[in-house]
Amino acid sequence: MKILANDGIAQSGIQALENEGFEVLTTTVAQEQLIPYINENEIIGLLVRSATKVRKDLIDACPNLKLIGRGGVGMDNIDVAYAKEKGLYVINTPAASSESVAELVFAHLFGGVRYLYDANRQMPLDGDSKFKQLKKSYAGGTELRGKTLGVIGFGRIGRATAKIALGVGMKVIYFDPFLEKASLEVSFFDGQSVSFDLASLSKEEVLQSSDFITLHVPAQKEYVIGQKEFAIMKDGVGIVNAARGGVVDEVALVDALENGKISFAGLDVFESEPNPEIKILMHPKISLTPHIGAATGEAQNRIGTELASQIISLLK
Ligand SMILES: NC(=O)c1ccc[n+]([C@@H]2O[C@H](COP(=O)([O-])OP(=O)(O)OC[C@H]3O[C@@H](n4cnc5c(N)ncnc54)[C@H](O)[C@@H]3O)[C@@H](O)[C@H]2O)c1
Repeated sequence: MKILANDGIAQSGIQALENEGFEVLTTTVAQEQLIPYINENEIIGLLVRSATKVRKDLIDACPNLKLIGRGGVGMDNIDVAYAKEKGLYVINTPAASSESVAELVFAHLFGGVRYLYDANRQMPLDGDSKFKQLKKSYAGGTELRGKTLGVIGFGRIGRATAKIALGVGMKVIYFDPFLEKASLEVSFFDGQSVSFDLASLSKEEVLQSSDFITLHVPAQKEYVIGQKEFAIMKDGVGIVNAARGGVVDEVALVDALENGKISFAGLDVFESEPNPEIKILMHPKISLTPHIGAATGEAQNRIGTELASQIISLLK
């Protein structure tokens, strides 16, 4: 029983599958070679992350394929409904990377309030000759403690982010049209925990009252944050998008950064991924990461073992 992990899989997942008699292939097969490779090697399970596309043509051309697995959340690269209609199992690991994405949001926020995104660009250039000037330019930082974080989309990652914010001493408000109320349990290292009961505010209220805004919604047809939304935010707000490119209007974002409405942005995802706009990449007020929200060793291990246990229970 052969499984092809075309975009890679953690060793923990390979081990768990091999223990149950599966053979795991980790060759990265080019998209156009995938159909013959699957058929010639009698692959029954195809595991992907976000790179490999699993469309109707592949599903039709590989009749022995029984399962498609996505390591992670978004399934936009898989024709899920069609695969299920054809009798294939389609699985993913929605919860495995929430904490990793939430921590990356805070990396952008902590970096943002102390200008690290810019200091890290300027120090190698001028750190030895203009130390005092640089010290002055980055001296006006602020603290996160005591400020209000507005979370748009209060699912798994939104709530994981909110818990870190509460631990840091921030006030958390949220907007989620499908979740009126939420109870959050913030756990500490010694077993203590504190619970918080929150209720969704309107989108306008969240935009108007937040010092920092972070987005955790699924891919949408329309922008969640565009010109109209930036206009009603407080002046000088910081915004982070580690959800999906296309959730924030990047043209409106650049305008808001340039007219001072927004003080900084942290972006892990981009409208024109994998070729983000140069204007975004070069902007001095944007903290940038190349879609690495879920890419921690811990999350990849959880993804690997979660995929393995689902495959074992479905195919053995
Ligand atoms: N940066 C990364 O590497 C990375 C990794 C994993 C997931 N993600 C992305 O993070 C996002 C959230 O993932 P999740 O696991 O928390 O999903 P989730 O389904 O648990 O939560 C999404 C929440 O958004 C809410 N929502 C939907 N439309 C909304 C809207 N217009 N306004 C406000 N709320 C809305 C839903 O009710 C839901 O509660 C997804 O887009 C996912 O693709 C990014």
